[in-house]
Amino acid sequence: MTRHVLSMSDLSPEDVQAVLTLASAQALAPVLAGAGVALVFEHPSARTRNAAEMAVVQLGGHPVTIGAAEVGLDRRETVEDVARTLGSYHRVLGARVARHATLERMAAALDAAGREVPVVNLLSDREHPTQALADLLTIAQCAGGLKGRRVAYVGDANNVCRSLVDACALAGVDVAVAAPPGYQLSADDLARARALGGRVTQVTRPEEAAEGADVLYTDVWVSMGDEADAERRRRDLGAYRIDEELLGRAAPGAIVLHCLPAHRGEEVTAAVIDGERSRVWVQAENRMHALRGLLAHLVGADTAEAAGER
Ligand code: CP
Ligand code: NVA
Repeated sequence: MTRHVLSMSDLSPEDVQAVLTLASAQALAPVLAGAGVALVFEHPSARTRNAAEMAVVQLGGHPVTIGAAEVGLDRRETVEDVARTLGSYHRVLGARVARHATLERMAAALDAAGREVPVVNLLSDREHPTQALADLLTIAQCAGGLKGRRVAYVGDANNVCRSLVDACALAGVDVAVAAPPGYQLSADDLARARALGGRVTQVTRPEEAAEGADVLYTDVWVSMGDEADAERRRRDLGAYRIDEELLGRAAPGAIVLHCLPAHRGEEVTAAVIDGERSRVWVQAENRMHALRGLLAHLVGADTAEAAGER
């Protein structure tokens, strides 16, 4: 069975550990030598596209980035036909899509065609797993490890939040989500994270989540695809901002993360995101390391060798 990574919960705790080990390795074998990786983007990207392309290059492969308009998903031809076509040239298919179901259709089409080509979610309306892997790497590096750390996520419990909560569950990191009614994780989301072993709570007051946290995390109030609702979202989420006062409630030395792009003055103040506790640029660079680790893991890189154990 091909290992597709459409959701964070497609990975086990052992997979996450392997990805983080490979991401941190000094040098990896060129496991993608002679292979292509297709990267399809239905939405804009600064970090994910560049991080993924460079990760492929570092593994000896050749990335081909494709704008959605170029292949015309369900316009020029079906999502299934695009996936089958790309699967006949490439070792991995990464895609950033407006609707999560598009990824499921790509994976199903490749499986039905007998192609062993993993599909990797590069952001959908539901999840952003490659971001969450970089987030774990950053927490491990900058917050003194993973197990037992506490993350407070403040704002819209969106795609980034959903993957973060599941990633933390898989890595033994506790999470408190603070979001207003209408913007919270669903009961199913909470049940899934808890089934993965996560200690996750959800509250409405940002202060409650932030109290004693090791990491404060936020994301934009208006995600790609939510633009029509922008005004209502800015009104409803207006109190869900990471500012110096909220940071003052966190643990001494707490760090601040944001997947970026950021809107200073909305979900985070300039003083905080540009301040001494912010680790967003380490986090942004870690997108590339985490993607390299994930791609290497999916094509069967030797984790023990990468960890220097043989
Ligand atoms: N964090 C993130 O996914 O950034 P991009 O949208 O720029 O890829
Ligand atoms: N939640 C944001 C993340 C961007 C990286 C969005 O989906 O637009």
